[in-house]
Amino acid sequence: MNTLSGKHILLGVTGGIAAYKSAELVRRLREQGAEVRVVMTAAAREFITPLTLQALSGQPVHSDLLDPRAEAAMGHIELARWADVLLVAPATADFIARLVQGRADDLLAAVCLACEASLAVAPAMNRAMWQQPATQDNLETLRARRVHVLGPATGSQACGETGPGRMLEPEELARQLDGLFQGGALAGRRVLVSAGPTREAIDPVRYISNRSSGKMGYAVARAAAEAGARVTLVTGPVALALPEQVNGIQVETAEQMHAAVMEHIADTDIFIAAAAVTDYRPQSVAGQKIKKSTAGMTLALESNPDILATVAALPEPPFTLGFAAETDSLEANARNKLRAKSLDMIAANVVGPGQGFEVDDNALQVFWDGGERQLGRTRKTRLARQLVALLAERYQAKYNTDSVIKLHAKDSA
Ligand code: CTP
Repeated sequence: MNTLSGKHILLGVTGGIAAYKSAELVRRLREQGAEVRVVMTAAAREFITPLTLQALSGQPVHSDLLDPRAEAAMGHIELARWADVLLVAPATADFIARLVQGRADDLLAAVCLACEASLAVAPAMNRAMWQQPATQDNLETLRARRVHVLGPATGSQACGETGPGRMLEPEELARQLDGLFQGGALAGRRVLVSAGPTREAIDPVRYISNRSSGKMGYAVARAAAEAGARVTLVTGPVALALPEQVNGIQVETAEQMHAAVMEHIADTDIFIAAAAVTDYRPQSVAGQKIKKSTAGMTLALESNPDILATVAALPEPPFTLGFAAETDSLEANARNKLRAKSLDMIAANVVGPGQGFEVDDNALQVFWDGGERQLGRTRKTRLARQLVALLAERYQAKYNTDSVIKLHAKDSA
């Protein structure tokens, strides 16, 4: 669903190299039917001309706080009132710091301060600047003020380095803005997702694992991020690209996954265990490749920790959603796991040849204490969004919170 149609998007552009991507962003937002007005800082004008953004937005570009002509046409208060959402993209480290201080010494800062609509920032900076405690503290402050922080992405940077700090691509930004208007049912929530298989080494070249592709877990992580959550994904080895807006932690074994999950669990509101954790590992890992023998071989195995059960048994557990992959007796097995592991919810699916693992579609039966819902067969990406919507519903029912951020929208269409 495209919710951007007819929305008033005020785009703030600050002075970073990623400002050139703002042109493409304006084009995409307009293609989706949004009305776009642009406010540029003085530094932004060094990177991209106002004329480009004027031509693409079809509106005059605003820059000066104290320009009598501009103020007569549409001053900072009118611009702030006009906006359904204010997106600063790119948002430099300096602008983020100024936003935290509540400055009003240029037009964009003043508009941000005057704006009662939702505010989103798409950080763009060198990775070292991004990783500085000063920047991270500033972002924490903004998040606590319910500013939506979109991105950044990780990758090669204009300065020649590689790491976190790239502005999200315009297409991704447009998608996330769309997500904000869709309700942001998990806005402000911190979600931890486990996904993919784990691998347990037998010797340096062999391992025990399973057929999990990670598709469902990745789709759920992405859907939670679209719903406004801050998502960390602890993933076993899979052939999937990490969703851009998700913080990824790569692990191989069940014990590593367990350690990564426990390290982040104190900062988690909702834990979604979508990983197909290998239940057993070899008692000892051979240092050298095991040679075959005609006598056959026996592998002694020991149990891996049950990550989900450990999390659910914590003194103050987060809201827990488990998965149950079953070949038979779906409901009975799922309800047993719900009870045995003391979960809030469980999503069960049938696995077998051509079903569940390694395929793009799936169906889920979701159970909780006192209820159930059937989510019919569809693409895993779509199914994941339906599951996240249901999860948000149950989460709110449990804690009696209304975490939905209502965007100040001129029309609710
Ligand atoms: N799980 C986990 N850690 C494990 C095993 C499972 O976190 N060591 C989680 C899975 O991510 C899933 C749920 O527990 O959310 C159910 O896993 P399941 O496939 O049912 O494994 P088991 O509980 O081991 O049950 P079974 O006897 O069916 O294998």
